Amino acid sequence: MIRRTFLTHALGVGGLALLPGWLRAASMEHDMAAMGDMAGMDHSLHALPTLAAADALPRGAALRELPKLANRSKLPGEFKGELIAAPTQVELLAGQPTSFWAYNGSLPGPLIEVREGDRVQIRFINRLSQPSTIHWHGLPVPPEQDGNPHDPVPPGGERTYSFNLPKGCAGTYWYHPHPHGHTAEQVFRGLAGAFIVRAADDPLAHISERHLLLSDLKLNADGSIPDNDGNDWMNGREGQFVLINGQHQPQIQLQGPERWRIWNACSARYLKLNLGGHSFSLIGTDGGLIEQAQTLTEILLAPAERIEIIVQPSAQGGQVALTAAIYDRNKMGSVAAESVISLAQISLASGQPAKLPARLRSIADLGPTSAQKRVVFSETMRMDNGQHQMDFLVNGKAFDMQRVDLTSKLGEVELWEISNDSHMDHPFHIHGCQFQVIEHELNGVKTPAPYRAWKDTINLRPKEIVRVKMAQPFKGLRMFHCHILEHENQGMMATLEVI
Ligand code: C2O
Ligand code: CU
Ligand code: CU
Repeated sequence: MIRRTFLTHALGVGGLALLPGWLRAASMEHDMAAMGDMAGMDHSLHALPTLAAADALPRGAALRELPKLANRSKLPGEFKGELIAAPTQVELLAGQPTSFWAYNGSLPGPLIEVREGDRVQIRFINRLSQPSTIHWHGLPVPPEQDGNPHDPVPPGGERTYSFNLPKGCAGTYWYHPHPHGHTAEQVFRGLAGAFIVRAADDPLAHISERHLLLSDLKLNADGSIPDNDGNDWMNGREGQFVLINGQHQPQIQLQGPERWRIWNACSARYLKLNLGGHSFSLIGTDGGLIEQAQTLTEILLAPAERIEIIVQPSAQGGQVALTAAIYDRNKMGSVAAESVISLAQISLASGQPAKLPARLRSIADLGPTSAQKRVVFSETMRMDNGQHQMDFLVNGKAFDMQRVDLTSKLGEVELWEISNDSHMDHPFHIHGCQFQVIEHELNGVKTPAPYRAWKDTINLRPKEIVRVKMAQPFKGLRMFHCHILEHENQGMMATLEVI
């Protein structure tokens, strides 16, 4: 209700949806400019709880390790675990506990760590008041085991997910709910966890590992977690805090060279990560190691993307900050100016850097493509019961669970051309497989992918086109969508049937 009223106020009367695209865009920008004020007015009118101050959470504690999900199987090659989604209290603000929804009472959920070739069985118990599912983001699991919105587990219900993880899928994945219409809320209330698949022949196994799962938190001063407001639904939710492993601005003490796995598990926040100019080596992306390490000082992690990096000691040791630099993703309306976000304080180790192998692994080109797909992300306004409603669309349509939007043949290598026909960034994600990016195209300029990598999520700038190759390894229904979860929730998702 809040969103609808607010859009109506902000946009006034008139059939925006009937205007030609260029005029609509201009007109929207104009109308949206009024929205910040309207949102402010709404707050005072309804006396909504105020947000906690940006410095309300304690900081500077040593970074915790993610708790691990216990393996209840004694058999080699088998992992059996249990995840219970339930409300849980965590005291982040002193004396004002916050009610989260969490897996096994842990924020973020426990880390699931398995090996390539393992048979995995996870019993899921839903103690929420809403239907839920667990989706294994990025993993090659059969559709009926992948937590599709089509397979909800009702409140009080349970089910067991089981799948085998093939050789070659070692990488950095995660899990989160995917029920129809509730994904955004369930994730922002705390449901998400890390999932690592290890290879028997990892060339960097000798370097010690650290895990940083970044999540977003919007928190009221009284410790409660607010619902999404109109701006959250439009631009994607961004709270005043970014947490690492559930902690605010922790301290990280490097022991020597370290391999970091980093997850962007935020609903909508883009993280342009840097270590204050201290360079690092990118060694892996969503679906595991890349071929050769890339030396970088900054990398953009869109929502749902993951990376692996090597952080080396420096000759003199010293302190650096892990921060997210300003990134303008072209939000709509009059939103606060973007600012640099301090994520963690790092004490670098002094000493010798680890030598990395010249080649981390080889990734075979998926080869010639024999089918093509086109995906277009767009945004429109329409009138609904006399009220303006913002729609987020894939190929001109909002998500419908009963509809199959595209069909692929099992195992066929396809060229997907994904374009962003809107004025805001959107990260594209597809279930069930990893793809290879061929090129980006913006304003007619094509830029080939700088290195070969396995990806399941890729950002698109406004008006950008990305071409990727992929092949689906299982028959059944697959979702593809924008991973700004509010957009996914409102319809920027579609179904691929693999036959
Ligand atoms: Cu993180 Cu539909 O996915
Ligand atoms: Cu996914
Ligand atoms: Cu989006």
